[in-house]
Amino acid sequence: MSGRFITLEGGEGAGKTTQLTFMRDYLEQTGCRVVVTREPGGTVLGEEIRGLLLSHRHDGMSLAAETLLMFAARAEHLERVIRPALAEGRWVLCDRFTDATYAYQGGGRGLAQGRIAVLEDWVQGALRPDLTLLFDLPVMVGLARAGKRSAADRFEQEDAAFFARVRAMYLARAAQHPDRYRVVNADQPIAAVRAEVKSRLVEFLHCSPDHRSILQ
Ligand code: TMP
Repeated sequence: MSGRFITLEGGEGAGKTTQLTFMRDYLEQTGCRVVVTREPGGTVLGEEIRGLLLSHRHDGMSLAAETLLMFAARAEHLERVIRPALAEGRWVLCDRFTDATYAYQGGGRGLAQGRIAVLEDWVQGALRPDLTLLFDLPVMVGLARAGKRSAADRFEQEDAAFFARVRAMYLARAAQHPDRYRVVNADQPIAAVRAEVKSRLVEFLHCSPDHRSILQ
């Protein structure tokens, strides 16, 4: 069986991380070997870069440096974790990937999408996620949830207008890539979100020739 690359995206407080655990358990029950990882991060170097990106020590970091650090972490992650796992037939569940760069650095901060596309092609080659679940919810609902969790990091401290641009870019990308994007309504109780996620996974497994037999 070949591996599949699934990414989870969304604004702050969308509940991705909770659903990631459910997705891992569900896929493992169907017999898939799963790797759960995240961006920025997922490797020793990537986690160190994550620390730099989120820390207030670097408030005011240039947009170019921020974007290049995201892709530096991604290059390491692809080489050490994602590509080897896919080659071994594992399913990779990744909490954020390049769509987050389009949404945050592109939509939120205003970086031209063409700049991101150049880095995407360079670092990833032809590799793109097979499925992207976008956990969508109104900005103010997400910020209220995220605010309850912990002190705001360098991204979480941005204002509602920033997150409205992030959300708009995610939705625009979902409309541009209907083949791989599925929008999940994250503004409902956890169990209802989980049911929606499960039906998206079942649909995806049905469309994966190697895995259709698992469901029969
Ligand atoms: P997390 O809080 O979902 O773990 O993600 C860390 C932060 O990094 C989040 O606020 C979004 C941001 N981010 C970007 O700005 N660009 C990216 O490419 C990625 C992967 C994350």
